[in-house]
Amino acid sequence: MPTYIVLLGPPGAGKGTQAKVLAEKFGLPHISSGDIFRENIKNNTELGKLAQTYIHQGELVPDDLTIEMIRDRFSRPDCDNGAILDGFPRTPAQADALCKMLKGFNGKVDLVPFISAPQNVLIKRLAGRWTCRAMGGHVYHDKFNPPKQVGFCDIDGSELYQRDDDKAETVTHRIEVYLKQTTPLIDYYKERGVLVQINGFAPIEEVSKQLLSALGKPVEGK
Ligand code: AP5
Repeated sequence: MPTYIVLLGPPGAGKGTQAKVLAEKFGLPHISSGDIFRENIKNNTELGKLAQTYIHQGELVPDDLTIEMIRDRFSRPDCDNGAILDGFPRTPAQADALCKMLKGFNGKVDLVPFISAPQNVLIKRLAGRWTCRAMGGHVYHDKFNPPKQVGFCDIDGSELYQRDDDKAETVTHRIEVYLKQTTPLIDYYKERGVLVQINGFAPIEEVSKQLLSALGKPVEGK
């Protein structure tokens, strides 16, 4: 049976950072809806042109476009054994669509770690975030997770940049959008018995330990 893990949480909670750890541990692809949109914007595709204004303003891209994009991503063979989903679903309509899609692969959402942190912490994290230009951009923070060489990725040497939507006013709006449109998914997955609370207001390694333990993977050093 394939394994599907959905990382839920506000902007800056650490979903992308932790998705990379889980993808490596479980040998599953990390599917980030935000990364796929950004790649499409960079390549000036039709999807990128449609999504750009929403992302720039901190609004959600419409459900139909987002669901089709994820359906297309799932059609690739690397998803045969499951996936770590980061940033999708983000609305009840997307969650229903995901459930239907996974039924088609004999799968279901197995676990939804809900990573939370206080709003002032989220704002500080996003203000100091630096992302690598390579696909699936590795993520750094100028204080909490600095690269060895300022401005360059430790892993592939690519240039680091600051996302347009990490400007203070856009971040505040993204958090409002999250509270209004995405928080209903907390109850949605709680009712289905798959939600697990993760304290995201802890150092990165500590959050990884909580996640691995919730997912039943042995934690190194224990
Ligand atoms: P997306 O790219 O998904 O952004 P997001 O959900 O707002 O999440 P972020 O990437 O900002 O935060 P994160 O939780 O991944 O944190 P990270 O690990 O980077 O979406 C962008 C846009 O695309 C949306 O606004 C929307 O327009 C569109 N979109 C995407 N998906 C969509 C969907 N399904 N439907 C419709 N529209 C969609 O960490 C943040 C920083 O904190 C980093 O610097 C990191 O180093 C640091 N950090 C992480 N963990 C810790 C820790 N424990 N302690 C200290 N620092 C930490």
